[in-house]
Amino acid sequence: QAALPKGYSIRPLSSDDYERGFLDVLSVLTVIGNISKARFLERFFYLKAHNHEYFTLVIVSPENRIVGAGTIFIERKFIRNTGLVGHIEDIAVDKNQQGKKLGLRVIQALKYIGAKTGCYKVILDCSEKNVPFYEKCGFQKKEVEMAWYC
Ligand code: ACO
Repeated sequence: QAALPKGYSIRPLSSDDYERGFLDVLSVLTVIGNISKARFLERFFYLKAHNHEYFTLVIVSPENRIVGAGTIFIERKFIRNTGLVGHIEDIAVDKNQQGKKLGLRVIQALKYIGAKTGCYKVILDCSEKNVPFYEKCGFQKKEVEMAWYC
């Protein structure tokens, strides 16, 4: 298990993380758009009301800024005896903070949540470039991702 560097902590997303740069961290993933605090809060409180299904974790730096983030969504199936599957989404580490094992720590915590909530597996989609990272996090390549954009 990797420890966080001194002064860093990991915790669930909080309603005032908007001011701590949560959306800036996500911008390493894709276009974020111009999201107001009100829209952030609307989404935040929706997810909070569904916190048996959505778990978003953040890593906080010693300067009290958000420098890492990740989410696990728990899907409820009929198959596998009404089994649960965890989907890991939107893993992001601030560009200046990459390579400090923050990404690994987020994944370890999300895998723990998946296992504790009773998932029989945890899956994710990623680019070819990120395969070595996820292999180091204990995942293996399986099947093929397909997408249809609406
Ligand atoms: N290629 C090879 N190895 C890698 C790579 C890579 N691209 N990225 C990390 N690693 C290795 C590290 O060297 C380290 O190995 P070690 O234990 O032998 O030293 C191990 O993986 C853990 O690396 P971390 O330091 O925890 O990685 P980091 O904190 O930089 O986070 C991440 C990795 C999340 C991919 C980060 O680089 C990032 O935010 N990238 C941009 C956004 C992105 O691509 N996110 C993932 C999208 S997929 C999804 O969300 C499901």
